[in-house]
Amino acid sequence: MKPIYILGIESSCDDTSIAVLKNRTVLSNITANQEVHEKYGGVVPELASRAHQANILPTLDRALKKADVSLDQINAIAFANGPGLLGSLMVGASFAKGLSLAKDIPLIGIDHMQAHVLANFITSDENLSEAPEFPFLCLTVSGGHTQLMLVKDYFEMDIVGKTRDDAAGEAFDKIGKMLGLGYPAGPMVDKLSKKGNPLAFAFPVTNLEGFDFSFSGIKTAVMYFLQKKEAHFIKDNIEDLCTSVQHTIIEMLLLKFKAAIQSFNPKGIAIAGGVSANSQLREKTQILAQTHNLPLHIPAFSYCTDNGAMIGIAGYYKYLQKEFSPLDIKSQARLY
Ligand code: KG4
Ligand code: ZN
Repeated sequence: MKPIYILGIESSCDDTSIAVLKNRTVLSNITANQEVHEKYGGVVPELASRAHQANILPTLDRALKKADVSLDQINAIAFANGPGLLGSLMVGASFAKGLSLAKDIPLIGIDHMQAHVLANFITSDENLSEAPEFPFLCLTVSGGHTQLMLVKDYFEMDIVGKTRDDAAGEAFDKIGKMLGLGYPAGPMVDKLSKKGNPLAFAFPVTNLEGFDFSFSGIKTAVMYFLQKKEAHFIKDNIEDLCTSVQHTIIEMLLLKFKAAIQSFNPKGIAIAGGVSANSQLREKTQILAQTHNLPLHIPAFSYCTDNGAMIGIAGYYKYLQKEFSPLDIKSQARLY
């Protein structure tokens, strides 16, 4: 069978990322990170849109060059259609539409959260890597969303649990900001947690009924806890603070993950989204899979945080199903 080449364009937040896929394998995945937000301690939407505009064409050039594929070989252009920052999404969408029109290549709009889940289908060797079997349960944890999804098919994902307030990544970032770490704080908290004691400080574990999460409690608890301390307390205890916070956030995630496994009896489990890059979450999920004797799927590091490859793999499956998008498809900031 002739291979299918998909271009994947991701621009929903602050990373401009473009990938070229040949079936399920990634030929290139180029990401331009935006440093402009660092001094603000969070993403400034207008600055993000402008940076996408500056970065998107050079990123495409690099992605095509690295893949050694020309635009004429591309079978479809997949792009993140939402959820995300509307201005950022619109830069990617307009760019994808322009390319589609100019080169007469079919267009495919992709749900960013579904793409995170489908990153688990990317393979480095098509003959060896097994794709997850349906239905599987995926804990999708990013900076904007926290979802427990029962994945019944490529684009049939029941959200069985979600956060009622902050996302897990948001909790890492907001608490990290209180600890004086840069944005995004998640990777730094992860790094510092390698040396600390997870039980040094006890923060509250919120356990709602059902499969929903809440991370605003731990954020407020850490804020009040720090207010009562001397100025040098954070500096002196940064590793223990990070480890205790990380330990509590992961405990809350696993509590619901475990309960959902017992309730839905999936054929396998997976994690996805930026927070799935967390070393402790990866380790603990592995133990969870072993305990329940279930196959586990975890994306490679480069396909956890926002990336064009996950949009590409979602585009590949939409292409197989012949699900294309019209040129007047509208970007959507909120989908859930
Ligand atoms: O999926 P993603 O790249 O963007 C969104 O769709 O939001 O997720 C970004 C989030 C940020 O909150 C970031 O702090 C978090 O993922 N993150 C991590 C780690 N790497 C990224 N959180 C904890 N540990 C990490 N290693
Ligand atoms: Zn994301």
